[in-house]
Amino acid sequence: MEREVPVSCIDAYEVPRYGKMVLVQPGGVLLPAGYKKFAKPIYNFKYRSDDICLFTYPKSGTTWTAEIVWAMTHINEMQRALTENLNHRYFFIDNDFFHDLAEEEYMEKLKAKCPDAKQEDGPILQLTALEKGRRFIWSHLSFDLQNPDVLDKCKVVYVIRHPKDNMFSRYMHFNKVANVSLPIIFETFLSDNTPYGNYWHHVSEAWKRRDHPNLHIMFYEDMKADIMAELKRLDEFLGTSLTEEQLKKVAEHTSFNNMKANPSMVLDIAGFKGSFFYKGQVGSSKGQLPPELDARMDAWIKENAAKVDPAFKYAS
Ligand code: PPS
Repeated sequence: MEREVPVSCIDAYEVPRYGKMVLVQPGGVLLPAGYKKFAKPIYNFKYRSDDICLFTYPKSGTTWTAEIVWAMTHINEMQRALTENLNHRYFFIDNDFFHDLAEEEYMEKLKAKCPDAKQEDGPILQLTALEKGRRFIWSHLSFDLQNPDVLDKCKVVYVIRHPKDNMFSRYMHFNKVANVSLPIIFETFLSDNTPYGNYWHHVSEAWKRRDHPNLHIMFYEDMKADIMAELKRLDEFLGTSLTEEQLKKVAEHTSFNNMKANPSMVLDIAGFKGSFFYKGQVGSSKGQLPPELDARMDAWIKENAAKVDPAFKYAS
C-alpha cells in the first residue's frame, strides 16, 4: 500500500518562470505547485539494490559529485561523458514538478518505451521506473520527502557545502537565470521558507542518518582540499575497487576546468541554456557580502550548525 507523505502543502505565491508555488511544511520547502501531485509517487518510489542516489541541497557540488560517481562506475567508458549530457546519464526525479524542464524530450523517450504513457504522470519518474539497467538518481529533496526506505534499499551519496558559499553560488545561478539580486537571495536563504527548504533542515535530515551504512556524506571543502582521499573513501563506499591510476583519471576528468569545458554539462532549464560554473572554490563568497550581512550570516551559521551537532564541521 502506498504511504501518505507526512507533510502538508500550502498554496503560496507565484514566481516568474516557475509559476505557482507551494510551501511544504514542516521544512519550509518552497517548490513549484506541481510537487503536490508528485509528492506521493516520489515518497513511494521503488528503489532497487543497485541504484545509486545522489541527494543534495542545491549548489552543494551536486554536478561535480554526479560526474565523479558516474565516472567511477563507468571507468572504461568515461569518454561517453563528453557527448552524453549529464541529464541523460542521471534521472533527475524532481524534474517532473518543474514542468518546463525539457519535458518534450523526455516524453518522446518515454513514448518510445511505453506508447500509452501519460505526460501528467511524470515522464522522468516513469522513465526511471522503466529503466532496466543500473540507475543513477539525483534529487534535491531532503530525506524527509524521499522514500523512508531508500537507505535500506540502495546506496545514497549526500554532499554538504559551507552555507555561505552555497548561498553565493545560488545567487550566481539566479542572477544569471533571472537577474535576482544578492539581498533577495540572502534574505530568502536565511528565511524559514525557501526553495528546497531551509539549508539546516536539509542538512540535519541527512546528518541524523549518517551512521547508516548505505549513506556516504561528503563535504565540498574536503573534496577541494584532497580529492584523491575523498575518491578513495567513495571508492570503498561504492565498491568500485579502482586503482590509484584509475582514481587519478577520475580526478582529472572531473577537475573544475575539465568539467567547465565539457559540453555535456550544459543544462537546458526553464528557458535558460548554459552551465553553472562560477569559481568552484572554497571561500568564493569571501568579500562579496556587505559587512552587516556577512556578520548576520556568521551568527546564523554558528547558531544553527551547533543545533545539527555541536561537532558539526561549520559549528566553530
Ligand atoms: S545545482 O544547480 O544545484 O545542481 O548546483 P551544484 O552542482 O550542486 O553546485 C554548483 C557549484 O558546484 C561547482 N562545481 C565544482 N566545483 C569544483 N570542482 C568541480 N569539478 C565542480 N563542478 C561544479 C560549481 O562551480 C558551483 O559552484 P560556484 O561557487 O557557483 O562556482
